[in-house]
Amino acid sequence: MRYDAITLFPDMFDALSAHGVTGRAHQMGLWRLKCWNPRDFTHDVHRTVDDRPYGGGPGMVMMAGPLEKAVRAAQQDRGDDAPVVLLSPTGQGFNQGLAQEWAAGSGAILVCGRYEGVDQRFIKRCVTHEVSLGDFVLSGGELPAMVMMDSVVRLLPGALNDAESARQDSFNAALTGLLDSPHYTRPEIYENEAVPAELLSGHHARIARWRRDQSLALTLGRRPDLLERAREQGLLSKHDEAFLAGLSQTER
Ligand SMILES: C[S@@+](CC[C@H](N)C(=O)[O-])C[C@H]1O[C@@H](n2cnc3c(N)ncnc32)[C@H](O)[C@@H]1O
Repeated sequence: MRYDAITLFPDMFDALSAHGVTGRAHQMGLWRLKCWNPRDFTHDVHRTVDDRPYGGGPGMVMMAGPLEKAVRAAQQDRGDDAPVVLLSPTGQGFNQGLAQEWAAGSGAILVCGRYEGVDQRFIKRCVTHEVSLGDFVLSGGELPAMVMMDSVVRLLPGALNDAESARQDSFNAALTGLLDSPHYTRPEIYENEAVPAELLSGHHARIARWRRDQSLALTLGRRPDLLERAREQGLLSKHDEAFLAGLSQTER
């Protein structure tokens, strides 16, 4: 898998390629990252990549020319027709399902906007997907690009020491799309609070049931939409439904 980032701040990406799970996967050769700075595709002494917006208004806009040249250079270097993704608050919302889809692909060229955004003609000519990390505005597309890549790379076979751990994460198949249950580690008693007895029982079925119930309760409280989706997909067992019914009775 190969990712290319079009960015004014290539150094920021060391955070991803040099640390943690994504850094290890990078070292193992599971994925590659190459950065392209639009400033390297300018011809004036100031290496200008932005200008004032037509129609007036605050801030600056990234110019189409240097961005397109950087994308074309990345495309030529890759030699494939990889998707060109603009990180943008106006794009399609990103989620775990999409991370799984991108993990099945061979990578992408990620365009990181800055300032007020990028010239629309660049988007029209070069961009195949627009992806948003959520309903908030960041100063640039570098962090969203890294978040997207992190969520994808950790799903690559071999990236995590224990492949099962990705399946057991929130939103994933093993949890039928629900939220993960709470986790505990040593010591057994911390500041007078003990680890729940079920987790110490050594009884696999009991532990699994406790985790499932915690997952159901947490999802009901925080993300009832996920619970409803699992129900619609027929992913809740009779035991799940009985536990949830018991919870509602306790609330009454
Ligand atoms: C200050 S923002 C521009 C916001 C733009 N004027 C708007 O209101 O939609 C600069 C850049 O940060 C990135 N960005 C900011 N928030 C983002 C988000 N929620 N998801 C993805 N990218 C984001 C985009 O690349 C964007 O071009």
